Amino acid sequence: MKMEDATKRIEELTNLLNQANYDYYVLDYSKITDQEYDKYLRELEELEALYPHLAMEDSPTKRVGGEVIDAFQKVEHTIPMLSLKDVFSESEIVDFDRSIRKSGVVPTYFCELKIDGLSVSLHYEDGVLTKAATRGNGVVGEDITHNVKTIKTVPLRLPEKVTIEVRGEIFMSKETLQKINKEREKENLPLLQNPRNAAAGSIRQLDSKVAAKRGLDTFIYHLPNPQDYGLSSHHEAIEYMKKLGFKTNPNNRLVHSVQEVLDYISEKAALRPSLPYEIDGIVIKVDSIASQQELGFTARTPKWAVAYKFPAEEVLTKLKDIIFTVGRTGQITPNAVLDPVIVMGSTISRATLHNEDYVKEKNLMINDIVSIRKAGDVIPEVVEVKKERRTGNEVPFKMITECPICRTPLQKKAGQVDYFCMNEKCPARKVEGFIHFVSRPAMNIDGFGTRIMEDFYNFGFIKSIIDIYKLENHKEDLIRLEGYGEKSVNNLLEAIENSKKNSLERLIFGLGITHVGSKTAKILASHFGTLDALMNASIDTLTSIPDVGGIIAESIVSYFQNEENRQLVEHLKELGLNMKYLGTEIVEDENFAGKSFVLTGTLSKMGRNEAKKLIESRGGTTVESVSRKTSCVIVGENPGSKYEKARELGIPIWSEKDFLGKLGNL
Ligand code: IVH
Repeated sequence: MKMEDATKRIEELTNLLNQANYDYYVLDYSKITDQEYDKYLRELEELEALYPHLAMEDSPTKRVGGEVIDAFQKVEHTIPMLSLKDVFSESEIVDFDRSIRKSGVVPTYFCELKIDGLSVSLHYEDGVLTKAATRGNGVVGEDITHNVKTIKTVPLRLPEKVTIEVRGEIFMSKETLQKINKEREKENLPLLQNPRNAAAGSIRQLDSKVAAKRGLDTFIYHLPNPQDYGLSSHHEAIEYMKKLGFKTNPNNRLVHSVQEVLDYISEKAALRPSLPYEIDGIVIKVDSIASQQELGFTARTPKWAVAYKFPAEEVLTKLKDIIFTVGRTGQITPNAVLDPVIVMGSTISRATLHNEDYVKEKNLMINDIVSIRKAGDVIPEVVEVKKERRTGNEVPFKMITECPICRTPLQKKAGQVDYFCMNEKCPARKVEGFIHFVSRPAMNIDGFGTRIMEDFYNFGFIKSIIDIYKLENHKEDLIRLEGYGEKSVNNLLEAIENSKKNSLERLIFGLGITHVGSKTAKILASHFGTLDALMNASIDTLTSIPDVGGIIAESIVSYFQNEENRQLVEHLKELGLNMKYLGTEIVEDENFAGKSFVLTGTLSKMGRNEAKKLIESRGGTTVESVSRKTSCVIVGENPGSKYEKARELGIPIWSEKDFLGKLGNL
């Protein structure tokens, strides 16, 4: 084919395929069949392979991913990406309307669904997508262009040569999440907890091929500077963005009174279960741009919009059983086994019951009907028993006295609520210890789920941490084991091999020394530089390090006094594990950034100041009192009225364990 012909055909195919993509993904309507699409795509791929320099900027072949980046670059938002003030009741919406009218504005409102995903800013120069960024802390976000290019509803080129920034939400549909989780279950990978985390996790991939497979979608809902495009209202801005090829939400509605806003809310709350994606509220915006400018902003949020948040969803189900699990430290936890129910888009069949006192306080009996609650991405909890639903078939709860695995009598320290299996050789504790060793914040070896680790322990392949690095010797056996197969075994062995290069703090944390969380491990690694230096450190040397107290120091010294532990380290050294600190790794933390936290009650693993510092070091803030603006309340022992208030307001609550989990210290 001649060069001019190729140029022409490539252009033709690119446009045709992009139009087909738009019809299918944005308009939900296809004019060509899948077979035709595939045929044209193959033809384009072949032509682009022959003439790579002719491939167009917006070629659909670029959607499949392939670009891999080393790290996320920071992007400064020229106009800050603000969040919205949350409101939780009808009366607060009436107040919002009243305050707007008081300032002299007679509002028309634009009502939208509040999509549960993560916000994104898209930049186009002369009509071509040049940059996509996360919100980050509102002022500085991260460059995620390589991943956003794989999202089918994001136009790579606009029909006009405009230079424009638009903002919206990246999300994952309920169906896609379920599909991915089914696959992950098969592969024994941890399940994605909800669509928001799933979307955020997918967009934070360095390898765009991974993001491309996640079936992400977008709704665009904000134009930062509409006047520049001659627009005087938000609804015109939405129309304009729609015309440019962006996917906007069909449920958007212009209304003229607060009553109509309330009607919209009840209508959409009823629609919520049948929507193919998760929403967590309704956004109400003053439509006129002039009025928006008149109303202005507070430090963090516009005064012309609010987000009405749906109340945390509560669902009834049956408490089928209470089973006990043994943690790495021997701690025994009762767990509710529930008839599976869907709460806020995820299927819940288990919930932690923390300890004996917790079960007794709630007066739970097996076969009770209980209400389950889940707010946002918070771990599900059993709220209360429905006593009126009791039939007489309920079985009282009885705390166990022996370890459910090794039968060692359980012990409880004076004044504490938790029981412990003190047998260091307890198989359950050992397996949990191995799982901790390979976990993401520790050695970060992908491919080991709980079930695999249990299998490998039961088959005798892994009896100690050292055996993880000798798993290669069992390669043939592993491949023959039901459900594993050569590919996953190879991937696992490769991940194990790669982990040998980890920086020292991961190994220190992975060893599971009592009181040494991931943050302490990092402090120790950077202070001592090598594991040998840490192993030989005295209590005095250790306590002279800021942030290392007497209890931690004693625990470290006693760990390394144990000959078995010293031998373990020697073996790991012989096996080729890196024993040196390699410098700082970037800690990115979606759990904390931009959120405000209230601490109440006593935390057992750290002081309040330390907790505050940890939250702040991850981009969160701490405040003293609970209000509707609080993102989350962290609850220790004997919490005060702040806990009650948080419950009343439906604000997400984390136990100390949840908190440590989010910090990556568990
Ligand atoms: S408007 C200045 N509209 O909710 C206005 N936000 O707390 C900026 N969100 O960070 C936001 N659906 O991630 C807006 N229809 C919608 C939304 C929406 C979801 C998210 C967005 C934002 C947060 C606000």
